[in-house]
Amino acid sequence: MSGADVVEAVFETVAGAAPEIRESLVGRRRYEAGENPSGEQQLAADVYADELFEERLLALDGVATYASEEREDVVEGADGDYHVALDPLDGSSNVKSNNAMGTIVGVFDAPLPAGGESLVAAAYVLYGPLTTMVTLREGTVTESVVHEGERHVGTADRSLPDEPTVYGFGGRVPAWTDAFADYASEVEQELKLRYGGAMIGDVNQVLTYGGVFAYPALTTHPNGKLRRQFEGIPIGAIVEAAGGASTDGERSLLATPPEDLHERTPVFVGNRSLIERAEATLSA
Ligand code: AHG
Ligand code: MN
Ligand code: MN
Repeated sequence: MSGADVVEAVFETVAGAAPEIRESLVGRRRYEAGENPSGEQQLAADVYADELFEERLLALDGVATYASEEREDVVEGADGDYHVALDPLDGSSNVKSNNAMGTIVGVFDAPLPAGGESLVAAAYVLYGPLTTMVTLREGTVTESVVHEGERHVGTADRSLPDEPTVYGFGGRVPAWTDAFADYASEVEQELKLRYGGAMIGDVNQVLTYGGVFAYPALTTHPNGKLRRQFEGIPIGAIVEAAGGASTDGERSLLATPPEDLHERTPVFVGNRSLIERAEATLSA
């Protein structure tokens, strides 16, 4: 199978699973005993989604390994040239409050952990009022509505609006660094607050309306909360391909390969002007 065929098969599998993932949330809002490799509580729905995706993605021709934020190590499959990194449920704490959440996919042509230079495709599914899927392949960002597991293209070439409108900043305000607090107080004067507790929901607001999403380095968490491999790189790539920019505070999220599969990174994605201002303020 060609690389394009493998990517399409991964996208089809993830879209195809969307109805079952939605259904699986019912009755799986309880926390399991275990923790994920980031030391966070796991929802029963996290574990279910992770097991479902592992089985179906490793069954695809061309997919050699599967890694997820919910499991310590990379899982070896059959021979293949592609490696899939998944955040099976992003924003799973939103399941209890019935708010938006998503699935994040990165397809790499190098063994994991791998950086932006090895990313061949990325996608996210947003389980909102509708189920939608945003995909990046060959430099193009496409948004589709997912109905009964099938993608119906809505916007074939999605790009950020030139004029930013919304912002969403994570982390507790008392834990913001002085530099980030300075940046936030500027942006708050200019844009509307949209923060929903699931990166995918918040990033989709930025992709739709223009603006900036950030989960910054905190005084309590110097590398922030989000994972470079499973959240920073795929989402940074999608926003950059849509005409925006990303940074970890110093450089594009695609510029620094993860050393550890589960390492965290500060994440900023959005309109280029807002990302450049963040870098300028944080490096002042
Ligand atoms: P996940 O559920 O995959 O662990 O991701 C949750 C992340 C991300 O989706 C969101 O931006 C952030 O956690 C929210 O963190 P707070 O609860 O600290 O706001
Ligand atoms: Mn998750
Ligand atoms: Mn996540």
